[in-house]
Amino acid sequence: MLVGACADTALDNRTEPETNTAGQGAAQFRQPDVLRSENGRLDVTLTAAPAAFQGAVGGALAYNGAPVGPTLLVRPGDRLGVTLRNDLEAPTNLHTHGLNVSPVGQGDDVFATIGAGQERSYVYDLPADHPSGTFWYHPHLHGSVAAQVAAGLFGAIIVEDEIDDRADMAAMTERLFVLNDPIGIGREASPMDGMHGRTGEAVRVNGVLQPVLTGVAGGLERWRVVNASASRPLGLSIPGAVLHLIASDGGRLESTRTLDGLILVPGERAEVIVEIPSTSEELAIGSDGAGRPLALLAPTGGRPTGPSPTVPDGLGEAVSVGAELVVRERTLTLGVDMGMGSMMSGDSGLEFTIDGKAFDPQRTDITVEAGTVEQWRIVNTTGMDHPFHLHAWPFSVVGDDAWPGWKDTVNVPGSGEVVIRIPFVGRTGRTVYHCHILDHEDLGMMGVIDVQPA
Ligand code: C2O
Ligand code: CU
Ligand code: CU
Repeated sequence: MLVGACADTALDNRTEPETNTAGQGAAQFRQPDVLRSENGRLDVTLTAAPAAFQGAVGGALAYNGAPVGPTLLVRPGDRLGVTLRNDLEAPTNLHTHGLNVSPVGQGDDVFATIGAGQERSYVYDLPADHPSGTFWYHPHLHGSVAAQVAAGLFGAIIVEDEIDDRADMAAMTERLFVLNDPIGIGREASPMDGMHGRTGEAVRVNGVLQPVLTGVAGGLERWRVVNASASRPLGLSIPGAVLHLIASDGGRLESTRTLDGLILVPGERAEVIVEIPSTSEELAIGSDGAGRPLALLAPTGGRPTGPSPTVPDGLGEAVSVGAELVVRERTLTLGVDMGMGSMMSGDSGLEFTIDGKAFDPQRTDITVEAGTVEQWRIVNTTGMDHPFHLHAWPFSVVGDDAWPGWKDTVNVPGSGEVVIRIPFVGRTGRTVYHCHILDHEDLGMMGVIDVQPA
């Protein structure tokens, strides 16, 4: 949304100008800072360091001192350069979740380690046909991902193209919701945290607890939502309003879907168009899974004059990866190994596995020939859900009406299974797939894939 005063205002203003009548003392909705590419380049420094914020008892961590790192706004074909400076007391690294970029070299190498006091330069070259959409960044150092993300290390990446510049798109107020439930770095993970994934006290929206949004009744808003929580699925819905889903993880949908609500598992994103209900009542937005809304919506004024706005349709391209393209089928089995110890002891030996094995960075689990299409059946033998995520190559979920577009993260329900088709095109290299309940990933539910030139 490079042109269009409305949209720019929406993204760039950190705080809404009006005061709301509804929530005396309630915090206003605000958005992270935006850093925007110019002439095909965006060069940023992200400094990861301890910080002090409400909610993260035991000490937050932050990129550039903010509860949510800056939003990196780029275009297809851009070069994004990130210098990651590690001012933490522990090693870290960086991952650009969902970007279609090289996973090796100076690119999105999650095997790299940046020691305390060190820095590393990443260079991400977005292909010219990179989809427009909502992506995000976070640390990916195996063993400490859950703790570092939960403590506050994450931010959004937005890729915009000509369709975002279109008048009907630019006319909508655009908001970014980066959701997490902060947990201080000082809190030791308990065996139960490992089992179910750690959860913080309360969910925050762009670092703010239950903010109030004021929106013009009857108007359309475009919301980009990122579930950056370490392990909580989050619900998005508004009483009396329908949501028009225009994009999932990997970009825009061919046809807009109308939904009463949706659930985002950790790692997932969605873009929805919301018609602000014509009411003077304050409405609850979404759910944290424990009965509390994520935010509050205070509609203001009457329906704007003029024709009622139309929800755009046909924004994206059809995603169909036909069965006839599949050259290889695999089954991946998600499991848990309770270990020899007791769940009550500190060292329970608890491991999460894929095909019976815990993660080993030295081992390559799957080797693929570049240019081929594979079909993976992901079977969950445990009773709990596991959001499955693959780096570098977006996939299509077979037979899933709920998520018709390109995906990079999909929930595999407890004792259930999901079938995906993956075109291994555009890039080669060695990277990972894993459960996005980050404690499960840290406890082994991750494998290594190597896509080799044909
Ligand atoms: Cu969002 Cu491999 O991660
Ligand atoms: Cu990722
Ligand atoms: Cu899991």
